[in-house]
Amino acid sequence: MRNRDFAGRPVGAVGLGCMGMSWAYAESERDDDVSVALIREALDMGVTFLDTAQPYGDGHNEALVGRALAGRRDEAVLATKTGLVVESLATRKIVRNGRPEHVKASAEDSLRRLGTDVIDLYYLHRVDPDVPLADTWGAMAELVAEGKVRRLGLSEVSVAQAAEAHAIHPVAAVQSELSLWTRDALGQPGTQAAGAGAGAVTGAGDAGDVVGWCAANGAAFVPFSPLGRGFLTGTVTAADFEDTDFRGANPRFQEEALKANLRIVDVVKAVAERHGATPAQVAIAWTLAQGEHVIPIPGTKKQRYLRDNAGAADLDLTEADLAELDAVPAAVGGRY
Ligand SMILES: NC(=O)c1ccc[n+]([C@@H]2O[C@H](COP(=O)([O-])OP(=O)(O)OC[C@H]3O[C@@H](n4cnc5c(N)ncnc54)[C@H](OP(=O)(O)O)[C@@H]3O)[C@@H](O)[C@H]2O)c1
Repeated sequence: MRNRDFAGRPVGAVGLGCMGMSWAYAESERDDDVSVALIREALDMGVTFLDTAQPYGDGHNEALVGRALAGRRDEAVLATKTGLVVESLATRKIVRNGRPEHVKASAEDSLRRLGTDVIDLYYLHRVDPDVPLADTWGAMAELVAEGKVRRLGLSEVSVAQAAEAHAIHPVAAVQSELSLWTRDALGQPGTQAAGAGAGAVTGAGDAGDVVGWCAANGAAFVPFSPLGRGFLTGTVTAADFEDTDFRGANPRFQEEALKANLRIVDVVKAVAERHGATPAQVAIAWTLAQGEHVIPIPGTKKQRYLRDNAGAADLDLTEADLAELDAVPAAVGGRY
C-alpha cells in the first residue's frame, strides 16, 4: 500500500474508520471478534491510520480498538476525539461539551479504554458554541504538554475556526465529511445541512476551503464518510434500514432522495468499470486525488470491504475520470 505522511510519520494512504464496528450502520451485523481480527489484518496490510471516538457506542468502540491493538500499539497512528458526549444510548442523543475539565477527564477515560499511555491524534469532535474555542483548545494543548497526546486535530470546523486554533497550538489534522456527494470542505457547499438525524451533530455550515487551508498550513485533511455512508459503493439501493441505522433518519437516504441520488452512483460505477475497480475504490481514490495531504478513513466491519478499500490507494484516476466525477449531480437531501 502506498503511504502518506502524517506529522512526519508514514501511514497507509487509506486509513480505517472504526465507528461502524460499534454503531450507526446495520448493527445486527456487529461482531466484536470479527472487528478485532479486521483491525489486526488492517495493520498487517499497512492500513495504520485508525479512527475512533468516545461516542461510538459510548466507549464501546475505543475499548474494541484497544483490544485489537494489544501488543501492537506502535504499529498504528491512533486517533480519538473529545467534545461530544452520548446523553442517551437508547436514542443516540449526542451533546457537545468543550469545557476544559471535560476535555481533561475524557482524555483519561479514552487512554484507559484504549489501553495506551498516549493518543497520537486527539480531535475536538465538534466546537462547543457555549465554550470559547481557545479554552477547549488550550486544555487540549495542555494534554500535549503532559505527554498524554501527541498531536491535535479538529472536526467539522470552518477555515476561521481552524486558523483560530492554529494560532494557539498547531492543528495537525482536520477531519470533516468529504466525498463525491459532500464537498463542503472544498469550499463547495452543495446542500445545506438541515435538521438532525438520530444522534446527528451538524457541522460548521459554510466552512470555506478547509482542504486548501490544511495544505497551506501543514495539516492533514481526513475525509470522514468517504463512501457516503455506504451509498457510493452501489450496495445501498433501497431505503430499508434497521431501526437503529443512522441512515433511516437521514434526508439523503429517504426513498425519493435515494432514488434520485442513484444517478451519482451510475457515474461512479462507469468509472470503476473502465479501471476494473470497484465503486468503493473509485469513491476513495477521488478523495485521495484532492491532495497529497488527504488521508481518508473509510469505515467497515467486513474484512472483504477492508481489502477492497485498501486497494483504492493504488488506483490512479485520470484527469478525464476526475472531470467526470467532479461533474456528478448535486446530492438530493441534506447530509444530516
Ligand atoms: N468526525 C465525525 O464527526 C465523523 C462522523 C462520521 C464518521 N466518522 C469517522 O469516519 C469513518 C468512516 O465514515 P463512515 O463509517 O460514517 O462512512 P463510510 O466510510 O462512508 O461508509 C461506511 C459504510 O460503507 C460500507 N462499506 C465500507 N466499505 C465498503 C465496500 N468496499 N463496499 C461496500 N460497502 C462498503 C460499510 O458497511 P459495513 O459496516 O457493513 O462494513 C458502512 O455501511 C467512521 O468509521 C468514523 O471513524 C467521523
